[in-house]
Amino acid sequence: MVSGTALAAALCDEVEPDLVGLLDAVAAATERIEALVRRAPLTHLVGLTGGTNVQGEDVHKLDAAANQVFVDAVRASGRVGHLVSEELDEPLRLGGDSFDLYVDPVDGSSNTDVNGSIASIFSVRRATRDGLPGPADRQRAGGYVIYGPATAMMITWGAGLHEFVLDPESRRFVLTRAGLRLPARGRTYAVNSGRQAYWPPDVRAFFDDLNADDPARDRPYSLRYSGSLTADLHRILLEGGIYCYPADDRAKDGKLRLLYEACPLALLAEQGGGAASSGRERILDILPRSIHQRVPLFIGSATEVALAEDYIQHRRAAP
Ligand code: AHG
Ligand code: MN
Ligand code: MN
Repeated sequence: MVSGTALAAALCDEVEPDLVGLLDAVAAATERIEALVRRAPLTHLVGLTGGTNVQGEDVHKLDAAANQVFVDAVRASGRVGHLVSEELDEPLRLGGDSFDLYVDPVDGSSNTDVNGSIASIFSVRRATRDGLPGPADRQRAGGYVIYGPATAMMITWGAGLHEFVLDPESRRFVLTRAGLRLPARGRTYAVNSGRQAYWPPDVRAFFDDLNADDPARDRPYSLRYSGSLTADLHRILLEGGIYCYPADDRAKDGKLRLLYEACPLALLAEQGGGAASSGRERILDILPRSIHQRVPLFIGSATEVALAEDYIQHRRAAP
């Protein structure tokens, strides 16, 4: 039942033992969360707790349960100084001195109510003084585990983008694809277009470009949006395209969180030859100011991310 063993074997030639141990603990946590997810409709683990998190968002029962699994697993690993979670108001000091871990225990948790794909996102950095990384505190590893028709981990430890799939019989993550590369461009985009009344002109112009009737430029793109950033990004990592959660008139910094959503996914995208930007700067160049900081996000194939930056930075006008 030690889910991470196969992952650890794949890693141990490449990274230091402390990091192998922590990633093995993360794998084991997600294996436990997967078991909760698969049985959630049977164990009344769907729906809301009735509480809200520090960001004022409704907490789903699976958010709370998965958060506790991470707390227990990384505490037991002995390697984590601070655990920063979407579901914890403050960094949790755990006593280890090697790494800090940043998690979104369940991403896309509204999908739990409708049997849609959800995921856990994780990011590893060297231990900091207070859980807030400084300019030199780069991510050491990052990724997510998606609980879809199959349970798959997309992970990087700074040397490429790799996919492991959880074997439901052995309960081990098996390496299925190493060194994945994103297509340089795709044919789909993901965005909540229900917010377009709030979009500024530059954001509107970018999507008008993607929606144009212009077959010579491979347009229009198709829209794919599930309500789970990771589920939407999973398609884009494999098939190319772009996921966007822009800043708008109602959400001045967008919605997504820098440290446990944008940064680990940006590291994955870049390790696969893709890109991630706020529209104004590379996500991985942004210096965090607070642990739950939000950031606009454009992530996916290099071609579409560069085009989004051209519109947001007004180097290109409406088509
Ligand atoms: P979380 O469930 O961790 O709060 O994240 C939800 C995020 C993201 O996964 C998704 O793409 C986005 O919120 C959806 O927001 P909208 O409903 O505003 O589109
Ligand atoms: Mn999320
Ligand atoms: Mn979440």
